[in-house]
Amino acid sequence: PQSPWGRFDPYDSPEDQDKEYVGFATLPNQVHRKTVKKGFTFTLMVAGESGLGKSTLINSLFLTDLYKDRKVPNAEERISQTVDIVKHGVSIEEKGIKLRLTIIDTPGLGDAVDNAGSWRQIEDYIDQQFEQYFRDESGLNRRNIQDNRVHCCLYFISPFGHGLRPLDVECMKAVHEKVNLVPVLAKADGLTQAEVCRKKMKIREEIKRFGINIYQFPECDSDEDEDFKTHDQMLKDSIPFAVIGSNVQVESNGRKFRGRAYPWGVVEVENPAHSDFLLLRNMLVRTHMQDLKDVTRETHYENFRAHCIQNMTRMVVQERKRSLRERYRDGNEADLPLPLAVVDTEKERLIFEKDEELRRMQEVLERIQGQMQHSHSGGC
Ligand code: GTP
Repeated sequence: PQSPWGRFDPYDSPEDQDKEYVGFATLPNQVHRKTVKKGFTFTLMVAGESGLGKSTLINSLFLTDLYKDRKVPNAEERISQTVDIVKHGVSIEEKGIKLRLTIIDTPGLGDAVDNAGSWRQIEDYIDQQFEQYFRDESGLNRRNIQDNRVHCCLYFISPFGHGLRPLDVECMKAVHEKVNLVPVLAKADGLTQAEVCRKKMKIREEIKRFGINIYQFPECDSDEDEDFKTHDQMLKDSIPFAVIGSNVQVESNGRKFRGRAYPWGVVEVENPAHSDFLLLRNMLVRTHMQDLKDVTRETHYENFRAHCIQNMTRMVVQERKRSLRERYRDGNEADLPLPLAVVDTEKERLIFEKDEELRRMQEVLERIQGQMQHSHSGGC
């Protein structure tokens, strides 16, 4: 007869014939099932100088039209100038795995007459998402927290300058401790191969010289295979990724692909000989998405959280010291039951208050005892 346990019969599976097998080897499967059911989320931000192709690239990256709503007659110019921080959400499904992707498109830097602090909007946005998460996490309902923290920021560098511009350095330094910065060399179709190499080297050298902390790819494990190690090294050597974006399909030699057509020929967005587009997309989606999320949670958010808690503790202590000083304004500070300087935590405050209460009760008791002794000795 068939077992009522079906394929989960604990007495029948070949593994269970083995007396050493308990079953926790299935834990990864359980985790896999649960996470797949829940789906995945990822938030990507694009920042950099105006007109470098930020909006175009993110459209190309996820093979989806994020800008359907911005209707302009000519498909090529459908993406208009970004003048405010815009959040686009799109759900993508591939082989039954759901990804909720959020793109944060930021206004181009360097358009104003005075660009000092023009990156502040970007910095504030990243902080606000951390703040919101911190508030939700400290609240009563922690079950359905919406996580809007920014996991990665693609920073676009102009192909027309000689490396980083002062505005790039300032902006990158303003956010490098808050988000995983991935620099990209924009509009690479305007550069020769030799120029791309030279610019990449210069930008890498400047990133180091100015102390900008970009996203660090995790070190390879020693047991990783050679292919993986080669790919990893290639990724590290490709920084900043030279990219090309396009919103249109072009046709050449009977093939249709996402690209840009020029009078002298066509460039293919996804051709590794033309740009690092595929390398960047694979890094973001296939190989490092989880690490980008982990670094956001474990490093950037933890730093923010620790900073917040320190500030809050400092404010509470100051407030407590102020109110204690007010209470003992007329007395001598040396007479205080606890030195004010050590009343630093919530626990100490409670101990201090209990101490105070005990001291008052002790005084009352002593007074009653004194009165009783006085009446016994016939003093009244
Ligand atoms: P802002 O909204 O002002 O910040 O601009 P943006 O950086 O989002 O640039 P957008 O994507 O709007 O593109 C600006 C122009 O550059 C458009 O005309 C695009 O067609 C063009 N463009 C985008 N990507 C590329 C590229 O890789 N190479 C070339 N040559 N042009 C591109």
